[in-house]
Amino acid sequence: MNLGVLISGRGSNMVALAQACARDDYPAQIAVVVSNQPGVAGLDKAAAMGLSTELIDHRDFPDRDAFEARLIELLQQHNVQLVCLAGFMRLLSRRFIEAFRDHILNIHPSLLPSFPGLRVHEQALEHGVRISGCTVHLVTEDLDAGPILLQAAVPVQQDDSVDALAARILEQEHQIYPEAVRLFVEGYLNPHGALSI
Ligand code: GRF
Repeated sequence: MNLGVLISGRGSNMVALAQACARDDYPAQIAVVVSNQPGVAGLDKAAAMGLSTELIDHRDFPDRDAFEARLIELLQQHNVQLVCLAGFMRLLSRRFIEAFRDHILNIHPSLLPSFPGLRVHEQALEHGVRISGCTVHLVTEDLDAGPILLQAAVPVQQDDSVDALAARILEQEHQIYPEAVRLFVEGYLNPHGALSI
């Protein structure tokens, strides 16, 4: 299955996906990595791995609709069948969701439905949760609220900082995102989030 990976920054989850895709027995390949931000580290990392990269700067378009129309067109040109959001910092409208209905995944650094949106680790520490983690979910029109596919739990330590917690959770993101994509591509995860192994 052809993946299109959308990024806005560092791109470490994109790298984790690319490393998985490089394995012989992995059932997907990255057709294109698209960033909406120029000059980000993720674009350099993707290019260094020999991946096809594209920049679609949302500021070059008059509105969200025009930006998404170009994004859809580009992904279709690359025959993308599954869109993987990996630190992509733009909201996607119904138009985009419809174009890839049930074939858009996202990774979020909390145990959803807790702490959707931004300042995720700050919220977790403010609430004093003992366990946080990360979630791969299907993307719907509602932010961070689509059906959950896979999660990993990460204990919060007594004197955790935002950075320390984020780093430990990120390690787990790099494990579960490629695994969720594999399970999805192999048909073990249905569009309602159910795991059937
Ligand atoms: C990750 O923490 C991911 O969960 C969130 O944005 C961050 C992206 O990091 N959606 P990276 O660009 O993949 O390194």
